[in-house]
Amino acid sequence: MDVSVIGTGYVGLVTGSCLAELGHHVVCVDKNEDKVESLCSGNISIFEVGLEDLVQRHLESGHLEFSTDLDSAVSQSDVVFVTVDTPADENGAADLSRVDEVAKRFAAAISDYTVVVNKSTVPVGSTRRVQRIIEENSPHPLEFDVVSNPEFLREGTGVSDFLNPYRVVVGTDSQKATGVMAELYSGIDAPLLITDPVSAELIKYASNAFLATKVAYINAIANMCEAMGGNAREVALGMGYDPRIGFEFLRCGPGFGGSCLPKDCRAMVQMALEHGYDFELLKGVMEVNESQRELMVKKAERLVGDLKNARIGALGLAFKANTDDVRDSPATAIVKKLVERGAKVRAYDPEAMENAAVELPQVEMVDDPYVVVEDADAVVLLTEWDQFKRLDYEKVRSLMKRSIIIDTRNCLDPAVLRRLGFTYEGVGK
Ligand code: UGA
Repeated sequence: MDVSVIGTGYVGLVTGSCLAELGHHVVCVDKNEDKVESLCSGNISIFEVGLEDLVQRHLESGHLEFSTDLDSAVSQSDVVFVTVDTPADENGAADLSRVDEVAKRFAAAISDYTVVVNKSTVPVGSTRRVQRIIEENSPHPLEFDVVSNPEFLREGTGVSDFLNPYRVVVGTDSQKATGVMAELYSGIDAPLLITDPVSAELIKYASNAFLATKVAYINAIANMCEAMGGNAREVALGMGYDPRIGFEFLRCGPGFGGSCLPKDCRAMVQMALEHGYDFELLKGVMEVNESQRELMVKKAERLVGDLKNARIGALGLAFKANTDDVRDSPATAIVKKLVERGAKVRAYDPEAMENAAVELPQVEMVDDPYVVVEDADAVVLLTEWDQFKRLDYEKVRSLMKRSIIIDTRNCLDPAVLRRLGFTYEGVGK
């Protein structure tokens, strides 16, 4: 099929290159000429496992193209994906201006029957809204449908999440669009759920909010374990064997972050409020998440003493491992709190230092984890990079002033570290 993808951010690039992998002919469109030029030569600015390789392979195979020409791409497409940014406004609601702008622009370019796909995470009601915008801005009657097809990609594993999803959700009332979407995804082995547009849009928010709730819940249990002498990892294991609960998203730590879970929880609370419902449960989840970050700082305070002028080495800045993304990162939030308490913080992250430096001007970024720990009173491990699990902790201890480690991700072996003479503290035990 001929597909165009409007917007070459994270979702657009993964969607476009994976649809090319499925054998479709895809044109990814962006208005930024420099970006398109660099994409045409196979350079992507995003750190995502397997993505650059896929882009380069399908540029060569001819299945993938990049262009600034929206009209030409749309007029030749059976399916048009809208994957532009929907940043949050000051109330936490998604700002749809870019989606609206794109819909207005390509309304005139649609020729034969086209399915327009809302792929970005957009507020409930957006599928119908885009349908209306296209109708209102088309110079002549059009044959088209707008469908919701939320993405469930995790940063770091986006390519494999797209090609091996748990499910594909399509929200539409049109039989014809259902047929087109079923054909588009026929190469994917996963349940295809066809539902109405509002339910499809809600599935995305409800899923992210539920994952956030799971994390907040296990963090609350972790705090109970700390108070009562249990071990949250064991509790999560015992819970996870029950398939009604499952093992995933029961890792306790510094709380959830990233560009999706926090944003979607806020948007969900805001949408609920606009429709007369006070989503108290989700507000509680957000509060628990915020206080979890503060608790990590309290741990440091308890072990180190007054943080004023204390030297802290921060290992990790990204919101999770295998990404350079620091948006709403628990790691950077905790570092900021340490700095506010007067600590002198040095930090290292294998991928995210450049992004983090913008919001952490007071922090000394060094490109060697062993330099981070030099003369430190305490080391705070904030992101679960594999590299941190493999450090030579004997060397780390010899370089530090005091040997305190706060492992907010529970990724080190407490017994080994204590044997080496560290005062070690994880989360939830
Ligand atoms: C999340 C969802 O998992 C995707 O399905 C969704 O498509 C995406 O948002 C989106 O809306 O675009 P992502 O933000 O990449 O994906 O990150 P996750 O892997 O979900 O992790 C979110 C946060 O929860 C991270 O800070 C992570 O460290 C934390 N987390 C996760 C925990 O603290 N414990 C866990 O057990 C799991």
